[in-house]
Amino acid sequence: MQEFDPHVLDEKPIPPPADFAKKARIGSMEEYEEMYAAAAADPQAFWAEEAKNIDWFEQPTKVLDWKVPHAKWFVGGKLNVSHNCLDRHLEKNENKPALLWEAEDGATLQLTYAELHERVCQFANVLLSLGVKPTDCVAIYMPMIPELPIAMLACARVGAVHSIVFGGFSAVALADRIADAKSKILITADGGFRRGKVVALKDTADAALEKCPTIQKSIVVKRTGEKVAWKDGRDLWWHELVEKSPKDCPAPAFDSEHPLFILYTSGTTGKPKGVLHTSAGYLLQTQWSTRLVFDLRDDDVYWCTADIGWVTGHSYMVYGPLANAASIVMYEGAPDFPRKDRFWDIIERYKVSIFYSSATAVRAFMAWGMEWIDPHDLSSLRLLGTVGEPINPAAWKWYSEAIGKGKCPIVDTWWQTETGSIMISPLPGATPTKPGCATKPLPGVAARVVTMQGESVKPGETGYLILERPWPSMLRTIYGDDERFQRDYWSRIPGVYFTGDAAQIDKDGYIWVLGRVDDVIKVAGHRLSSMEIESALVSHPAVAEAAVVARPDDIKGEAIVTFVILRSGHKPSKELRAALSDHIATTIGTIARPAEIHFADLLPKTRSGKIMRRLLREVAQKGAISGDTTTLEDLSVIDRLAKAKGIDEE
Ligand code: PRX
Repeated sequence: MQEFDPHVLDEKPIPPPADFAKKARIGSMEEYEEMYAAAAADPQAFWAEEAKNIDWFEQPTKVLDWKVPHAKWFVGGKLNVSHNCLDRHLEKNENKPALLWEAEDGATLQLTYAELHERVCQFANVLLSLGVKPTDCVAIYMPMIPELPIAMLACARVGAVHSIVFGGFSAVALADRIADAKSKILITADGGFRRGKVVALKDTADAALEKCPTIQKSIVVKRTGEKVAWKDGRDLWWHELVEKSPKDCPAPAFDSEHPLFILYTSGTTGKPKGVLHTSAGYLLQTQWSTRLVFDLRDDDVYWCTADIGWVTGHSYMVYGPLANAASIVMYEGAPDFPRKDRFWDIIERYKVSIFYSSATAVRAFMAWGMEWIDPHDLSSLRLLGTVGEPINPAAWKWYSEAIGKGKCPIVDTWWQTETGSIMISPLPGATPTKPGCATKPLPGVAARVVTMQGESVKPGETGYLILERPWPSMLRTIYGDDERFQRDYWSRIPGVYFTGDAAQIDKDGYIWVLGRVDDVIKVAGHRLSSMEIESALVSHPAVAEAAVVARPDDIKGEAIVTFVILRSGHKPSKELRAALSDHIATTIGTIARPAEIHFADLLPKTRSGKIMRRLLREVAQKGAISGDTTTLEDLSVIDRLAKAKGIDEE
């Protein structure tokens, strides 16, 4: 959780740039407050009005069916999400660029709405020809190439449920997710490019498929042209399938609550949870919030730098912007390839006007310095955004000055995989901002900061961030584990949605999100679980026990620190440390590699045997302990742990 400097609460809000406010969709706080009040007074009427912006095949008969914690939105309505992202734009925007893709090596591909529509239809026909039926699950494990959004939209078109697994996850992690969702088809690529090197995605996918009996076919995009292993009867080339496929594919009508996708995310246990989102509510709220939060215009060039493997990529690279007929930039590779100015170069060449990135990226740009930025013309930018983790005020101010040149509002957007769309954020033409603060809930969102008893905390006190009412893009359940859905989100404080975040509210009613209160760790905005890493460690034959905590990191926000007790017969060594790090990479993925691995001979535990992570966190952060340790089984362990940091191998 972020160290909080109480002085920032006293900072004066910065009004939106006057020029921006003049032209903005919502141009004043009065307008925001009016909208907020209307939504609070009659949420169903508010969302019913917004739902007019969906192209329905059949109108819903009821806005909401709500029995805590299960919501059905727009009951009786029928729609097709892919039709809403493509077909309906063809009349006016047939020739408008939909996708502006740039490969890491500089190659480009641009698809108009008509062309994207055609490709999605062709691939939808491929899925149909392979026997994919509505509600079948299709796993996607791909690099950032145009076939990825095409595959998503094709799934949506035929009513299949996509489950995208970020390309940085390991074979084991992919196999677990495929098994949990019982996916029938996998879509992958022969490989991807990262910093000029080939990432052998198919090798990893093949290793996963050895343990995935539910997968019938694996569709492979040829991206790198490297030689890959091939299993006849299972593996099929994307381009060969598409070549023969008709370019016309009707978009059938599906129920409002038809499942759209599953996205796995980390929680407090070792097992990732499959967050399930459905069609109409998700589409509506991502579409609506994209327009409102990014103040989206017809002529904007919109770039969200997130990987589609995470929820930000789902909601704000694909569904939200495409539902609004926006022109989206998609970049395949790393921000520092071939040089540290790649992003600024892309902004200059494509005349990007809206740039949505992460706090980690901003801190990295800041560390790389102005020499990479100054030579570029960034005057096309009119709005900047950030997401995924708290942004420290210094990074926020730098972003505003160095990239925004003082004329771009910053939207610090708070939300989660589970919320589906942005919940707390400034409206760029209305909300005075405070560096490091996500400011106020969007209209229709009832956010409060409370005690465990559900009572509001006073300004300046830390409490739990909760959401009080159902909202259209909320997760519907944890796939296959509705009990966990109820327990994790709706039972901690009965009847309200528990976010897992700590927050403070200031005297102006602004919400400052401080970070997680559970054992979720955010490394470079990527969500990982302490328990998942611990169980990966104890599955190594040398490890008897393990504890994992986070410590602050200047660039990545948080870094992973592990404490390991070895089984007898194993000795601490540099080699073992490297082997354990590799073991985590192969069990979870390279994103979970720890920054530090410490060997210990004891871990601090309560008398009931629970590892005291709070104490370990202090050791990891400061190398010393303060506060109450009276429930510790063996007090001397802390001393020994603190001493062990850094000097614990032979
Ligand atoms: O802790 C909060 C943090 O990211 C968590 C959600 O992670 P994930 O499901 O991976 O979704 C990330 C992208 C939406 C939250 O519980 N978080 C997200 N945005 C912010 C944030 N923390 C502070 N400020 C934000 N703007």
